[in-house]
Amino acid sequence: MVGHKDDTNWARFITQVFEQAKPYLAVRGDLMHARISHEYAMSLMKQEGGDRKIIEPAIILHDVGWSCLGAREIKTAYGVKAEGLESERLNRIHEKEGAAVARRILEHIHYDPLLIDKIASIIRTHDSGEDIRSLEEAVVKDADKLWRFSETGFSKEIERQGITAIELYRHLAEHHETWFCTQSAFEIAARELEKRKRQSSRKV
Ligand SMILES: [Fe+2]
Ligand SMILES: [Fe+2]
Repeated sequence: MVGHKDDTNWARFITQVFEQAKPYLAVRGDLMHARISHEYAMSLMKQEGGDRKIIEPAIILHDVGWSCLGAREIKTAYGVKAEGLESERLNRIHEKEGAAVARRILEHIHYDPLLIDKIASIIRTHDSGEDIRSLEEAVVKDADKLWRFSETGFSKEIERQGITAIELYRHLAEHHETWFCTQSAFEIAARELEKRKRQSSRKV
C-alpha cells in the first residue's frame, strides 16, 4: 500500500495518480483542468480542512469518465448550452464511468480499499449530487467548479464550448452565488469573477 505518512511519499503518490490519469484526461483535454482544480482543492483544504487522502485523488481523477464518451457526446453533455434529457444522461455516464475508471487506477496502484470506496462515491455524483455527505465531497465539488473562474479555465471553456467571453462571464455571474458548498470557494469565485469581468470587457 502506498504510504501517506510523510510528504515525500505523498508527493510521489500524487505524481503517480496524475500519470495514471493522463491518458484518460487527454480525451477531453482535461489535464490542465485537473491540475488547476487540484491547486484549488489544496487552497480550500487549508481553509476548510478535509482529508487529503480522499480529496486529492478524487479531484485529480474526477473527470476521467469523459474518456468513455465520443467527441459529439461530450459536446452534448457539457457546458453553458447543454440542456435536456440527453445531456443529463450523458453527464451521468461521465460520472458513473469516471468512478469505475478511478477505482481501477487506484486499485492498480494498491491504494487503501476503504479510501477508494469514498473517492469513487464522490466521483459518482460530482456534478449531480445535491446532498453533500462529507466535507471532502464539498471540497471536491467546489474545486471542480472553481476551474471555470480561473484565468486559464475561463479561456479554455470559451474555446471548448464555442461561446464568447461575455456569455461565459454572464453564466458565471448568474450562478456563482448558488454553486458552492463552502464559504471559501464562494469568496475565491467572487474575487476571480471580478478579474474575468475585466478580461471579458477587453474582448468586446
Ligand atoms: Fe465532471
Ligand atoms: Fe470537472
